[in-house]
Amino acid sequence: MLRTHTNNQLTQADKGNKVTLCGWVHRRRDHGGVIFIDIRDRYGLTQIVTDPQNFVEAHNHANEARPEFVIKITGTVRLRPEGQSNPNMPTGEIEVLIEEFEILNRAKTPPFEIDHELNVNEELRLKYRYLDLRRDRLKTNIVQRHKMVKMMRDILDEQNFIEVETPILIKGTPEGSREYLVPSRLYPGTFFVLPQSPQQLKQLLMVAGFDRYFQIARCFRDEDLRGDRQPEFTQLDMEMSFINYEDITGIIEDMLIKLSEKLVPEKKIQQSPFPRITWQEAMESYGSDKPDIRFEMKIVDVSDIAEKCNFSVFTNAIKSGGVVKCLKVDGGLELTRKEIDDLTELAKIHGAKGLAYIQLAEEGPKSTLVKHFSEEEIKAFIERSKAKTGDILFFGADSFEIACNSLGQVRLACADRFKLRDKNTLAYLWVYDFPLFEKDPTSGQLAAAHHPFTSPKDDQMDILNSATPEKTIAKAYDIVLNGYEIGGGSIRIHDQQLQKKIFSLLNISDEDAERRFGHMLEAFTYGAPPHGGIALGLERLIMIYQDEPNIREVMAFPKDSKAKDLMLGAPSVMPTETIEELSLEIKQK
Ligand code: AMO
Ligand code: AMP
Repeated sequence: MLRTHTNNQLTQADKGNKVTLCGWVHRRRDHGGVIFIDIRDRYGLTQIVTDPQNFVEAHNHANEARPEFVIKITGTVRLRPEGQSNPNMPTGEIEVLIEEFEILNRAKTPPFEIDHELNVNEELRLKYRYLDLRRDRLKTNIVQRHKMVKMMRDILDEQNFIEVETPILIKGTPEGSREYLVPSRLYPGTFFVLPQSPQQLKQLLMVAGFDRYFQIARCFRDEDLRGDRQPEFTQLDMEMSFINYEDITGIIEDMLIKLSEKLVPEKKIQQSPFPRITWQEAMESYGSDKPDIRFEMKIVDVSDIAEKCNFSVFTNAIKSGGVVKCLKVDGGLELTRKEIDDLTELAKIHGAKGLAYIQLAEEGPKSTLVKHFSEEEIKAFIERSKAKTGDILFFGADSFEIACNSLGQVRLACADRFKLRDKNTLAYLWVYDFPLFEKDPTSGQLAAAHHPFTSPKDDQMDILNSATPEKTIAKAYDIVLNGYEIGGGSIRIHDQQLQKKIFSLLNISDEDAERRFGHMLEAFTYGAPPHGGIALGLERLIMIYQDEPNIREVMAFPKDSKAKDLMLGAPSVMPTETIEELSLEIKQK
């Protein structure tokens, strides 16, 4: 080892000892000929100081050192003079008097400062990620991530789970999002795809008898990016045989409680056992399938009241099969005209045609709409929403989805405005009873809401076989934390006939099913056990634990918001020979 200690180790107890430290020049101060340096490594900082009288050569080398130079020093630990200790640093009581100073490597001036966390343009941070990773914020996130993964492995190992790696080069698995393709050199015109998740492989492992599987699995999805989405991300992927819903939720709940208590002890779990609500209830009350329940602010249905009113926007919505929903915001009378306009814009971005409102002022209900409603109707709105003077009522009149979704977004924006989203509260929530299908509003075509292997609930067979199969409820569940979907899973279909039925509803022909999923259908003929599983999005979980606004902050080398790696310069053009070798041709645009 080049060093005797790391840079957060030395304390008063080391006084008088000779030590060797290595690291980067974090900060350098020249105090009347004496040079002070904070030397940094992954573990922390130590103050080192020159003695220009007695150790001239060391002093001269230190004089040359600049921020981010890599250095090695040998010297003697001494107590800092009275009044100069720093209680905020583990090594704050001591300093090391430098006797030998070696510059191991020089460094260019970094494009941004490493020694504090000032806001730096993200493009620059991504291009020089290895420098950004030297800073505390990212370093801490990466260390927390390591600890989380280690805990997950230990917890699952204790419960008899086996970690199995599944391949990255697989066959197209149409699970919903677009796949990344890898052309095969040996078989021109054919492709591997990168897995969106190990879904099919983990189910095949159940057929193979590995009744408790997990994997820290890399997943790839070529989809539009958002703050909580990356093209390449990691799941804690799990699958179990001979289990039911309660077994899966139990294991996950237990693990999430342990992780939260250990990794973010300052945060409190809002409710344990975690509350559970159906998808329908989540949409109705919170306007979201991943509600943030750190605060109440529930949406209520007022269709029955609105139906009889004199406001055509409301009555027309109901006549065309829609609903009128109402959101009460406590203290919302405070919202300015501009703020209400902004919320209206937000509702419109989410499909609403407008955002009607009634302000409950001291002098009585205020709104341009009041004239459309009778006194009884306004009273009924107030009673239904449990509003009081000082509040505001927002209304959404539209199809169920749009009315709920748009008010759900207004709900979140108001919670931010009134500071109701406490970062030290962890509000875990199970959302269950998801619809099995999503129906395309124009073509009427059904698509799998989760993936095509998700089982309908046992009592849903009549609905599945009816004229409205889109009403079928699935054995699918999501785990939600503070308004983010951190995981999702389902009980799978293990019956070949039922699987065929689902394929046919999804408009996947027998030949198509054979071509795409033949391996699954065949495997299921050799004794598939009843099974189910779940996958947690690792980055989303750490992002919330670490109060980060974006999952890029918890990944060592993420892609940017346009799916590029700015550090590596990927994706990149490949040499013509390589393209030809793959029997591909690039169309010039
Ligand atoms: P699902 O598609 O719901 O389920 O994904 C599971 C969890 O993975 C995380 N996640 C993402 N994180 C970052 N970037 C992305 N692009 C991204 N996409 C998803 C989310 C999500 O809840 N095979 C099923 C699981 C199962 O049924 O067992 C699956 O992948 O936190
Ligand atoms: P208008 O009659 O179109 O001027 O709208 C009157 C008020 O109703 C405005 O505050 C609109 O934002 C609101 N509004 C219009 N359409 C809807 C709708 N579908 N749902 C809720 N509010 C609406």
